[in-house]
Amino acid sequence: MTDLIAPYGGELKDLRLDEKAAAEARQEALELPSWDLTERQLCDLELLAVGGFSPLTGFLGQADYERVVGEMRLADGTLWPMPITLDVSEAFAAERRPGDRVALRDPEGVLLAILSVSDCWQPDREAEARAVFGTDDRGHPGVAYLLERSGPMYLGGSLEVVALPSHYDFTHLRLTPAELRARFQRDGWRRIVAFQTRNPMHRAHVELTFLAARQAEANLLIHPVVGMTKPGDVDHYSRVRCYEHVIKKYPEQTTTLSLLPLAMRMGGPREAVWHAIIRRNYGCTHLIVGRDHAGPGKDSRGEEIYGPYDAQELVTRHADELGIEMVPFRMMVYVQERAGYAPVDEVDESRETVMNISGTEFRRRMREGLEIPEWFGYPEVVEELRRTYPPRARQGFTLFFTGLSGSGKSTMANAVMVKLMERGGRAVTLLDGDVVRKHLSSELGFSKEHRDLNIRRIGFVAAEITRNGGVAICAPIAPYASTRRAVRQMVEEANGGFIEIHVATPIEECERRDRKGLYAKARAGQITGFTGIDDPYEAPVDPELRIDTTDVSVEEAAQQVLLKIEKMGFIDLR
Ligand code: ADX
Ligand code: MG
Repeated sequence: MTDLIAPYGGELKDLRLDEKAAAEARQEALELPSWDLTERQLCDLELLAVGGFSPLTGFLGQADYERVVGEMRLADGTLWPMPITLDVSEAFAAERRPGDRVALRDPEGVLLAILSVSDCWQPDREAEARAVFGTDDRGHPGVAYLLERSGPMYLGGSLEVVALPSHYDFTHLRLTPAELRARFQRDGWRRIVAFQTRNPMHRAHVELTFLAARQAEANLLIHPVVGMTKPGDVDHYSRVRCYEHVIKKYPEQTTTLSLLPLAMRMGGPREAVWHAIIRRNYGCTHLIVGRDHAGPGKDSRGEEIYGPYDAQELVTRHADELGIEMVPFRMMVYVQERAGYAPVDEVDESRETVMNISGTEFRRRMREGLEIPEWFGYPEVVEELRRTYPPRARQGFTLFFTGLSGSGKSTMANAVMVKLMERGGRAVTLLDGDVVRKHLSSELGFSKEHRDLNIRRIGFVAAEITRNGGVAICAPIAPYASTRRAVRQMVEEANGGFIEIHVATPIEECERRDRKGLYAKARAGQITGFTGIDDPYEAPVDPELRIDTTDVSVEEAAQQVLLKIEKMGFIDLR
């Protein structure tokens, strides 16, 4: 019987220490400086540790880094497309010298590995972005991460791994390269085609993988990424439940499912080459590369960053060195007359009807509770996703009133809250500006810094309420646009709606009302830093709703808000 495919570079790396050495490392670490790994670094560490990134034995040093960025090769010439770097703060780097040892810990402080520092340098991250991703546009999620979230200094060096990052979810599906190889060995699988994905699988994907396995005369490994994917993707818990349904659609004993704790960079062509190397390390002989593999989506000007088949091209160019075969696919579409799927280049569109639902359209349908046709998705999968993405009428949302003191925010917020309670069926929490300052932010004042902190706290609470399907009604002044934008992002990431209502009552009217006597005090100079008098208010440019309460009753204003929420689909007034 033939052997399994050799790992990339010939040998599967395993950076884990044995028990005795690990105990010694734990002792040594007591005296070492510590670095708490970020979520991305945890993923990289795990794949380094188990050999998913063979032949790497640690985070790249400067010479490797520079050649990887510039030429897609390690210093010794081995093809390697993606810089695997340990980014740290300036302050932490300032204290490090080659030869130092650093304890790498998880966010709870558990020791995972010791890094022997070989290099410490300041990378040119803009140049890295252009070379690796082909752009420095921050609309590319990999670029945005590199330029906005990565630390400015890199540490390189080899790793001694004490423990893998802990996972408590789907542990039976998290096979390491060695474990997966052992399973292939046991089951007599020699030709294995891997399917990379970061999305739920629908019929098109099953057809595609099925065809690929047939073409390659190979068994199939569904190998989804569960580390970090593109921001906004379906969470991996929901996806894995979907994959568990989908796996039953394949003939028994032909297909298996295993999860990959990779942090994707959405690097398109370079990422596809990287995926090929990783899958080879996991024992696969083939990798499916379809349309727009590891695609980052559009840039900030709305243009596609890579061509749909750029990834296939780059993998093809390096096929020999990679030593794993690519199974290329044109876009798979549903052909009505055939009642089945086919690659689009095999369809004569003048005689046959091609049907497709894009990812964007699919999400719109889910959000609005619309039907998903059976030719597109398996009912079990759609059902699973509906639990995660209930239609808007069952999603949480945040109503965010912003405006000057005395503009009518609290009054409207109260009226809307009561009207929602009267209708029933929704858990509502009011986070009024003054009330929050009494409980959540009692130590804060009115400097820009404190105002921002206060709004971010409100945003945090609102996002949690929204995540759990409730309604958060916020009514702070929130004078700064960037802070409001941050809150919007937090709430939207919590799978719910964010509805910004600018209570645009002019300052003259607010001051005329002067319900709390604050304008009088501000004019008299008894209080300073008062919004609208001697502190700025940046009016929202594009709020969901704008209401000037000068000439409308509370009833009317509340009604406008309710109608808006209904129009957006978050409540059902009928
Ligand atoms: S990716 O970021 O992991 O590449 P996704 O999960 O959407 O995203 O795709 C996984 C793989 O399936 C990629 O190789 C992609 O090109 C391929 N793929 C997904 N949908 C289609 C389709 N309709 N036609 C052809 N290939 C597809
Ligand atoms: Mg895609």
